[in-house]
Amino acid sequence: MKYRQLGKTGLNVSEIGFGAWAIGGSWGVQSVTDSFEALEAALDNGVNFIDTAAGYGNGKSERIIGDFLETRDEEVFVCTKTPPVQGKWPPSPYCDIDERYPEAYLRENVEERLKNLKTDSLDILLLHTWTRAWNRKPKALEILHKMKQEGLIKNVGISTPEHDQNCVVALMKEGLLDAVQVIYNIFEQEPAAELLPVAREKNVGVIVRVAFDEGVLTGKFKGNEEFEDGDFRQKYFEGDRLQRAVDRVQEITDEFGNNGLSMAELALKFSLSHPAVGTVIPGIRNREQALKNTKVAKLPDLKADTLIGLREHAWNRGFWYAGK
Ligand SMILES: NC(=O)c1ccc[n+]([C@@H]2O[C@H](COP(=O)([O-])OP(=O)(O)OC[C@H]3O[C@@H](n4cnc5c(N)ncnc54)[C@H](OP(=O)(O)O)[C@@H]3O)[C@@H](O)[C@H]2O)c1
Repeated sequence: MKYRQLGKTGLNVSEIGFGAWAIGGSWGVQSVTDSFEALEAALDNGVNFIDTAAGYGNGKSERIIGDFLETRDEEVFVCTKTPPVQGKWPPSPYCDIDERYPEAYLRENVEERLKNLKTDSLDILLLHTWTRAWNRKPKALEILHKMKQEGLIKNVGISTPEHDQNCVVALMKEGLLDAVQVIYNIFEQEPAAELLPVAREKNVGVIVRVAFDEGVLTGKFKGNEEFEDGDFRQKYFEGDRLQRAVDRVQEITDEFGNNGLSMAELALKFSLSHPAVGTVIPGIRNREQALKNTKVAKLPDLKADTLIGLREHAWNRGFWYAGK
């Protein structure tokens, strides 16, 4: 494993972290045995960073991690997230921050995170979503900074809403965020324009999520897969979306398939290639995935011409003029 400094958090984190959404729920059937074995194999191979959230199985992912970490002695950093009070997701520009992230609610929610994770101070707490409208009055962040001074949280930040990731840029410039969690993968390269350079300038820790675009950038799908009930990908890859994504992955493998890396390795290495990035957190749900994904840290970095070639595979899915 290799380690990097996670910006101003000062945490020395493994390049490959553990994305713990699926071990909480929303990805179809998942056994607790598989989840424990996945965590065990990841830590045995040097992972010291785990990402979870209140929302992953209503605390289930956190509780599994809390139980699991009791069986280990090494230092492991856990990042978790607090969602806004129930309502529109992502929050609409008309939502009132005082109603979605009120102080009493934030305090109660943080207490629950501490209890689930069996700790008295959170390494990183992120607000699970945000709207740019709140940049004018980011009161919830001020409350979290107060809780940081009280010792309940060590670092605070935001996990970007996927339709407007750049909404955190102004907040980073104002020094309000210690860390951010962003989507940065072969398809979604827009953070290279502004978000990642500003994070670097301001020394904000960057945690990259969804390096595989929910699995398709591992290259394992053919396009005719049907996701089981309870797997959120039924919706994510609805209609012809899976086939369109698979066709694009095929173009990437045609071009880079002979470079000695599997598609999954190429995807993780791409996400790690930006110097602002501290850790990439692939979702891991069993031992085999833990072994495959942790191995990637040891592989050589992508060459400049590969990175330049991969720029051509960025896919802006919200761009009407580009056609379907
Ligand atoms: N808004 C937010 O804050 C937010 C949103 C999304 C994710 N996240 C965080 O980011 C993490 C990563 O994102 P993600 O889990 O959604 O998506 P991802 O990392 O793009 O994909 C993960 C999925 O790919 C499959 N997989 C993993 N390693 C593989 C390998 N080596 N070969 C083949 N298949 C493999 C697994 O699913 P199957 O085996 O079922 O195919 C796994 O669940 C999450 O776990 C979560 O911690 C945060």
